[in-house]
Amino acid sequence: MSVTYKELGLSNTKEMFERAMKGQYAVPAYNFNNLEQLQAIIYGCIESKSPVIVQVSKGARNYANSTLLRYMAMGAVEMAKKEMGSNIPIALHLDHGDSFELCKSCIDNGFSSVMIDGSHLPYDENVALTKQVVEYAHERDVTVEGELGVLAGIEDEVSSEVTHYTKPEEVEDFVKKTGVDSLAISIGTSHGAYKFKLKPGESVPPLRFDILEECEKRIPGFPIVLHGSSSVLPKYVDMINHYGGKMESAVGVPEEQLRKAAGSAVCKINIDTDGRMVVTAIVRKVFVENPSEFDPRKYLGPARDELKKMIMDKNRNVLGSADRY
Ligand code: G3H
Ligand code: 13P
Ligand code: ZN
Repeated sequence: MSVTYKELGLSNTKEMFERAMKGQYAVPAYNFNNLEQLQAIIYGCIESKSPVIVQVSKGARNYANSTLLRYMAMGAVEMAKKEMGSNIPIALHLDHGDSFELCKSCIDNGFSSVMIDGSHLPYDENVALTKQVVEYAHERDVTVEGELGVLAGIEDEVSSEVTHYTKPEEVEDFVKKTGVDSLAISIGTSHGAYKFKLKPGESVPPLRFDILEECEKRIPGFPIVLHGSSSVLPKYVDMINHYGGKMESAVGVPEEQLRKAAGSAVCKINIDTDGRMVVTAIVRKVFVENPSEFDPRKYLGPARDELKKMIMDKNRNVLGSADRY
């Protein structure tokens, strides 16, 4: 049985991005796979009064079960609006959709927004696939994110060794031909915890803001999306390593650069790795300090609480999305 996102009380990203563009901030898009991550995201965004996009990859959807996900999203909305009296908009978004069928299935199961990632395809095939998704989605008032340019690292089943920066000369034609609502571009970020290979003493190179500016000029006022935007916070790298983990050369995008991007046409910033690392750091700490603990609430609970704090901090100090609702 199919269901629309409106029946679940969710919002698409249209108005969220209009407000973000005017207010010069970015809407956070946090990935989740389980109950505790979803709780942390929703609690953190309610408390910081931030709009939020909760997103699931194909892998996360398989992990969580698509029927269960639908009711988790509905539960999150009901909890936020009815129980906690919050008016923040909540979008449920498919991250890195890789086929029309997957996007359709998500739309039919209550997603309010989908990404169709044809970035690895030849340009014309990317246009055709994206257009097909847009046609199905727009008939149902669901918003669509497309992508031009390839980020290094893993994008679900698609992975690339090297970065292919977005070609600004393609963006206008792509947006016009496909009808997408937002566009992910590649300006030097990448997925995961090892975004830059630095030699000792070297600092992280700046993102290619020149490419971002060129894109903005060609599609003025159009919402741009940044993937691979975790900062790989040193606090949690250190905790993970201190409590028996091994993530020595992990490095991410400095927060100042994300803050700068959020003030531009970048309306959505994707964060997954930072959330994963918080959970891992806290679970490791609890296990080292309390080796006899075996109640999942005693290690997932503290991980959830720390994740909520991290989310509030991102919204307030990096994306600028706090206190907007
Ligand atoms: O961009 C990828 C996201 O971080 C999701 O990762 O495919 O391992 O769930 P995943
Ligand atoms: P990170 O790996 O930097 O968190 O990027 C997440 C992302 O882009 C999800 O689509
Ligand atoms: Zn991504």
